[in-house]
Amino acid sequence: MKKRLAIFLSGRGSNFINIHKNILSGKITNAEIVLVFSNNNDAEGIVYAKSNNLPTLIMDHKKFDDRKKFDQAIVDELSSYNIDLICLAGYMRIVSEIIIDSYDNKVINIHPSLLPSFKGMNAQQQAIDYGVRYAGCTVHFVDQGVDTGKIILQDVVDVGSDDDASSLSAKILAREHILYCKAIDLFCNDKLCVVDDKVIIG
Ligand code: GAR
Repeated sequence: MKKRLAIFLSGRGSNFINIHKNILSGKITNAEIVLVFSNNNDAEGIVYAKSNNLPTLIMDHKKFDDRKKFDQAIVDELSSYNIDLICLAGYMRIVSEIIIDSYDNKVINIHPSLLPSFKGMNAQQQAIDYGVRYAGCTVHFVDQGVDTGKIILQDVVDVGSDDDASSLSAKILAREHILYCKAIDLFCNDKLCVVDDKVIIG
């Protein structure tokens, strides 16, 4: 049975679009996107999902009293979709334990830094400001922290002396697109195993 994916996004959605294309081309196997969720009605990723006839769900977090009530409403909505894996792809909301507890080791995220360095917003600018020689991206299981959680895959890029946050973001994004698809393919083919808080591949 194909693994049923929900993609969570808040904006551009280039990782999501790339995941979708890789499923269609067979580079990611044993997976289907059954829901694209956003907290932002104007997200470009939602426009792509709709034009490709993928089911969408939009819920505005501002209409809820707090994070837990919002996340509970998401969990309630998701229950009928039988989701195997939630992929956060530029989802700019902190996910609470309400979602994590319902989808234990079934929520993954991509972050544009070599975690545990440069968590949170503007990771690429943080890397430039620090003066690191290497930056990169990380796919990890999501836990209750911000950009913490067990690391699945990472990739590295050089930071040149002429790089700024924008050029570095572009370099990293190209690697993100490859890395996230690789991680999703591994998950969907049961090649990821969590042992003693570490992810074992294979
Ligand atoms: C990506 O660079 C992703 O790594 C980052 O947001 C961007 C979304 O781009 N995520 C985070 O910073 C999460 N902490 P996209 O919407 O084009 O995929």
